[in-house]
Amino acid sequence: MKKGNLGLAVTTEAREFEESTVCGIFGCILKSGEAAPIVHVALKRLEYRGYDSVGTATLHENKLFIKKDSGKIDEVHALHNLDDLPGRIGIGHTRWATHGAPYQVNAHPHTDCDEQIAVVHNGIIENFAELKMELEERGHTFRSKTDTEVISHLIEEKLREGLTLVEAVRETVKRLDGSYAIAVVSVKEPDKIVCARKESPLVVGIAENAVYCASDIPAFLPMTNRSVIVQDGEIVVLSDERYEIRKILDWTQVTREPEHIDWSPELAEKQGYPHFMLKEIHEQPLCLRNTLRLQDQFLELMTTFLDRAGEVFLVACGTSYHACLAASYMFSKLALLATHPVIASEFVEQHGKSVNIDSTLLVVSQSGETADTLAAVECARLRAATVLGLTNVVGSTLTRVARVYVCQQSGPEIGVAATKTFTSQLSVLSQLALRLAKKRGKISHVEIENLEEKLEQIPDIVERIIQTQEEKVKQLAKKYRDKQCFFFLGRGISSAVALEDRLKLMEIAYVPSIAYPAGESKHGPISLIEPGFPVIFICPKDDTHKTIVGNIMEMKARGASIIVVVEKGDEEIKSLADDYIEIETGLPEVLSPIPYVIPLQLFAYYMAIERKCDPDMPRNLAKSVTVK
Ligand code: F6R
Repeated sequence: MKKGNLGLAVTTEAREFEESTVCGIFGCILKSGEAAPIVHVALKRLEYRGYDSVGTATLHENKLFIKKDSGKIDEVHALHNLDDLPGRIGIGHTRWATHGAPYQVNAHPHTDCDEQIAVVHNGIIENFAELKMELEERGHTFRSKTDTEVISHLIEEKLREGLTLVEAVRETVKRLDGSYAIAVVSVKEPDKIVCARKESPLVVGIAENAVYCASDIPAFLPMTNRSVIVQDGEIVVLSDERYEIRKILDWTQVTREPEHIDWSPELAEKQGYPHFMLKEIHEQPLCLRNTLRLQDQFLELMTTFLDRAGEVFLVACGTSYHACLAASYMFSKLALLATHPVIASEFVEQHGKSVNIDSTLLVVSQSGETADTLAAVECARLRAATVLGLTNVVGSTLTRVARVYVCQQSGPEIGVAATKTFTSQLSVLSQLALRLAKKRGKISHVEIENLEEKLEQIPDIVERIIQTQEEKVKQLAKKYRDKQCFFFLGRGISSAVALEDRLKLMEIAYVPSIAYPAGESKHGPISLIEPGFPVIFICPKDDTHKTIVGNIMEMKARGASIIVVVEKGDEEIKSLADDYIEIETGLPEVLSPIPYVIPLQLFAYYMAIERKCDPDMPRNLAKSVTVK
């Protein structure tokens, strides 16, 4: 499995590993006027990529001017006036810390020892720890705990050797493992910005009186709609009204004319998707790849806590609770560990009196701020239980109160309905279960290798599901849009998927729906069934297959319309269904919730569209529920 430097932190010990992955970078060279206000408004337009810290650097009369701090752009601007920096060349950054607290010192731009070079970066430098050690041995002084700072010090060394800025950037990026989109300025060559890209997005904008670089087109769209997409492995030098692109590897020059972008600024922010929810569903392959870059030693530490626990509670609300429910099957099947998934708002009543020093809570919260979840944490802490956290927001309350926390690396989720953060949680939880299984010797080598291999493949599998099934799901939404109620059924780990799919459909398309473990449906709920009642079954080909066939027959016999999510080639189930969505074969049961939930996230989205509901802002809901 690929390992990087992402993702986990121990609240006290892990400050060494702070870094940011999902951020926005921007740069501009104006023919005349001040760059800083332009950088400021461009960063505002990139704020959807991250908003826990912000910073700007400008060049003026061979001097570097920098302002940066933690906080939202408006807050930092109110405090420091981000428009008040001299010079017509500037770079800027808006950060989403994925590890370590968002402190001023960790905000970008990052500089070299002499503060002659400034760098903004979006991505992950996987080998930064080695590079940092090497640079420190050669006398460099580091100010931050970020991965990015190694870049400015490496460039500093190359400039000292007499290389030009672009040569120095080229030699530096050759030493970096991981992903990056960077923009670099130096007082030694104060007329240019040098950018480079590998696996993180980078675009150039060309206007009459300016050139821009950015993580994304919306940053400069109000100024110009002429844009050049920078490809992986390319360096770009921006200078007065010019851009020059070269291949990092062989230094050949690339000729690429600007394209005309006809998106509105609003559409551009969603990268051409009509809603954030759809964009975030499509981002899942990328987010899942990030979850495979979590750092070994911290995953291991969390596993040790779980291994030593007398009892383990998996505590969360809503979608995060569904991830916990799925995780309880993972821990049980892989590590033979019985865990108790608990809805956070019930924790105090249900376990408040019995939780104790031998209890461990693995608390899952995308926002890290959900009031019910934090109340459960507080209750457990008062009784000396150990609290472990899995969250998407570094610096959130959960990261401060947990003994150990894991950052799931999903980047900001703007759509109110959780989608990409759910599958990322599942990926992290499955990795923890797998590690615990290894540690406890509960699983064979062959099984471990198979699971690790499949985990690696999950992002590609998810990508293929979206590509091949989206159109079909759209048609299903058209067919079923007027139905008044849906049933969602699954057995085993798929019952968690059924609950999550039900929640998605209810919360964004306002279709009252029911979800049960399929076996339970005949103990009452089946009385609702009458001809044409839509019942959605989630049926991967696992140990529950035979019994779910029986459950489908029960529903079919009463006239229900049967929609199934099945493994490709599962003719037995397909022959019973009115409609089916196919998932590729060969997925281990414990990983199946990740791919199987995807088509029904899309179904909920397209049902909302068909029913004229706004999927990004469902009524009565908030992204972070901070009241009990
Ligand atoms: C549903 C959804 C909510 C959240 C719940 C917990 O799409 O987003 O059910 O999952 O409010 O939020 P976090 O995970 O932030 O604690």
